[in-house]
Amino acid sequence: MTERARQRVVTPGRSFLALNLALVISLTLFRWGSVSFSVAPPVDLLQASNGRADERTCINCHVQAEQFHATGHAQALSRASSPDSLKLLARLGDSDQARDEGTIVDIRFDIPHARNSSDGSASEVTLDWCFGSGRHARTWVTTLGDSQGATDLNEFRWTWYREVNGFDVTPGQPDKHFDTHLGPFGVLYDHPKARRCFACHTSHLPIDDGRLRLEDVETGVNCQRCHGPRADHIASDGEIRDDFWKTASPAEAVDRCAQCHRRPEEVEVDEIRADNPELARFQPIGLVQSKCFTASKNLTCTTCHDPHLPLEAQDSLGDWQCLQCHSTSQPEHRLCGAGQGDDCLQCHMPKVRSVDPIRFTDHWIRVR
Ligand code: HEC
Ligand code: HEC
Ligand code: HEC
Ligand code: HEC
Ligand code: HEC
Ligand code: HEC
Ligand code: HEC
Repeated sequence: MTERARQRVVTPGRSFLALNLALVISLTLFRWGSVSFSVAPPVDLLQASNGRADERTCINCHVQAEQFHATGHAQALSRASSPDSLKLLARLGDSDQARDEGTIVDIRFDIPHARNSSDGSASEVTLDWCFGSGRHARTWVTTLGDSQGATDLNEFRWTWYREVNGFDVTPGQPDKHFDTHLGPFGVLYDHPKARRCFACHTSHLPIDDGRLRLEDVETGVNCQRCHGPRADHIASDGEIRDDFWKTASPAEAVDRCAQCHRRPEEVEVDEIRADNPELARFQPIGLVQSKCFTASKNLTCTTCHDPHLPLEAQDSLGDWQCLQCHSTSQPEHRLCGAGQGDDCLQCHMPKVRSVDPIRFTDHWIRVR
C-alpha cells in the first residue's frame, strides 16, 4: 500500500458549476447521464489540443502507467466494434424481453447493427460506441448528425449488466418502448446532451461547429484528463510540473473527482438522505456527508483509492482504509462503539442495490 493519507492546506475553491436546479427532477437522478443538465466537466479543456502529449510516453518515466490500462477509467469508453463489445452484443438474443420487442443485433464485418421488425417494416441502426468498462454495465450508443450537422446520440434501449450477466432496459428509459423516431432502439438525445455523455467518458473531445470529431477522441479517462496537458512537462524532462494534487484541499480534490462522479449541488437537497439508495451511485455526495470527511482535515478519495490501479489490485475491501484513522495508534480518533475490530465495511460502508441491477458502495460512512 502506498502512503495515502496526507495533510492538505488550502482553502476550498469554487467549482465552475453552472446549474439549473429547476431541471434536476428526480427521474434524472436515475439515468446514466443524470447530471445532464449541468455543465460538470470542463468541456473546453477537453476540446483543446494545445499542449497535449502522447499518452503512451508517460510509461517511459512513471510506474503509474503500468497497470493503468486495466482500470475502469481507461476502459470507460470503447468502439462498439471492439471484440469485448461484440461478444456481449451477440448475446442480446438471449434476452426474452428484447426478443419480445422484436429487436435483434446482427454483426456484419464487425459492425453491430440493431434491427427491429415489430411493426411490419424492418428498421435498423448501427451501434457505434460502447459506454462502460463492464465492471457494472455496458450501454451502446449510435451517433448521428442533426440537420445542422451537430452530433446527436441515440442511447440503446438495452444495457448489459454484470450482476445478472445479461441484458435489461437501460436506466432511465421507459419500461415500454415509445414513439420517438428511433422508437425500439432507445432514446434520442440532442447535441448538448450527447456532448456531456462523451465528456465524462473521454479525455480529449474535439468539436467542430457542434460536430463531435469522434475519429479524433481519446477514449476513457486517461492521465492527462486528471493531470492536464503534459507536452511541456515531457519536453522539460519532468521539470515543468503542476502541483494541483499536492496542494489541493480535501474539498478541492474531492471536487475534481466529483466533476464526473457527481457533486452534491447536482441533486435536489431532499434527495440527499441516508435512506435514498440511489445516492450510493454518486460516491462524492455521500462521502462529504460523512463525519469522517467533515470532522477530519485530510480525507479525500485517494485516502482509499489509488486511481492508477484497478480496484481489484488495491485490496479495496480491506479494513486498512478505516484503520488509517480509527486505530489505537491514533488516540484522537474513536474506535468502533460496538467494539468491533474488523469487517468495518460490512456495517459502515455496505454495498447497496439501486433500481437497476447494480450495486454501489455507500460512501456515506455512518452508524446504521
Ligand atoms: C457527469 C459525468 C457523466 C455523464 C454526463 C455520463 N456519465 Fe456515464 N458514468 C460516469 C461515471 C462517474 C461512471 C462510474 C459510475 C460508478 O461506477 O460509480 C459512469 C458509468 C457509466 C456506465 C457503466 C455503469 C456504471 O455505473 O459503472 C455506463 C454504461 C455509462 N456511464 C453510460 C453513460 C451514457 C450512455 C451517458 C449519456 C447518456 C453517460 N454515461 C453520461 C459519469 C458520467
Ligand atoms: C482519475 C484521475 C487520475 C488519473 C486518470 C491518473 N492520475 Fe495520477 N494522480 C491522481 C491523483 C489524485 C494523484 C495524487 C495522489 C495522492 O493524493 O496520493 C495522482 C498522482 C500522480 C503522480 C505523483 C505521484 C506522487 O507520488 O507524487 C504521478 C507521477 C501520476 N499521478 C502519474 C499518472 C500517470 C502516468 C497516469 C496515467 C497512466 C495517471 N497519473 C492517471 C489522479 C489520476
Ligand atoms: C472524466 C471523468 C472522471 C473523473 C474526473 C474521475 N472519474 Fe472515476 N470513473 C469515471 C468513469 C466513467 C468510471 C466508470 C468506468 C467503468 O465503466 O467501469 C469511473 C470509475 C471509477 C472507479 C471504479 C474503478 C474501477 O477500476 O473499477 C473509481 C474507484 C473511481 N472512478 C475513482 C475516481 C477518483 C478517486 C477520481 C479522482 C481522483 C476519479 N474517479 C475521477 C469517470 C471519472
Ligand atoms: C522524461 C520523463 C517523463 C515523462 C515522459 C513524463 N514524466 Fe511526469 N514526471 C517526470 C519527473 C522527473 C517528475 C518529478 C518526479 C516525480 O514526481 O516522479 C514527474 C512528475 C509527474 C507528476 C507529479 C507532479 C506533477 O507535475 O503533477 C505527474 C502527475 C506526472 N509526472 C504526469 C505525467 C504524465 C501524465 C505523463 C505522460 C503524458 C508524464 N508525466 C510523462 C518525468 C516524466
Ligand atoms: C474510506 C474509504 C473510501 C473513500 C474515502 C472513498 N472510497 Fe470509493 N470505495 C471504497 C470501497 C471500500 C469501495 C468498494 C471496493 C470494492 O468493491 O472492491 C469503493 C468503491 C468505489 C467505486 C466503485 C463503485 C462502487 O460504488 O462500488 C467508485 C466509483 C468509488 N469508490 C469512487 C470514489 C470517489 C469518487 C471517492 C471520493 C469522493 C471515493 N470513492 C472515496 C472506499 C472508499
Ligand atoms: C481520514 C481519517 C478517517 C478515515 C480514513 C475514516 N474515518 Fe471514520 N471518522 C473520522 C473522524 C475524524 C470521525 C469523527 C469522530 C472521530 O473523531 O473519530 C469519524 C467518524 C466515524 C463514524 C461515526 C459516524 C457518525 O455519524 O457518528 C463511523 C461509524 C466511522 N467514522 C467509520 C469509519 C469507517 C468504517 C471507515 C473506513 C471505511 C472510516 N471511518 C474511515 C475519520 C476517519
Ligand atoms: C457488526 C457491525 C459492525 C462492524 C463490523 C463494525 N462496526 Fe463500528 N459500529 C457499529 C455500531 C452498531 C456502532 C454504534 C455503536 C453505538 O453507538 O452504540 C458503531 C460505531 C462506530 C463508530 C462511532 C463510535 C462513536 O463513539 O461514536 C466508529 C468510529 C466505528 N464504529 C468504526 C468502526 C471500524 C473502524 C470498524 C472496523 C475496524 C467497525 N466500526 C466495525 C457496528 C459495527
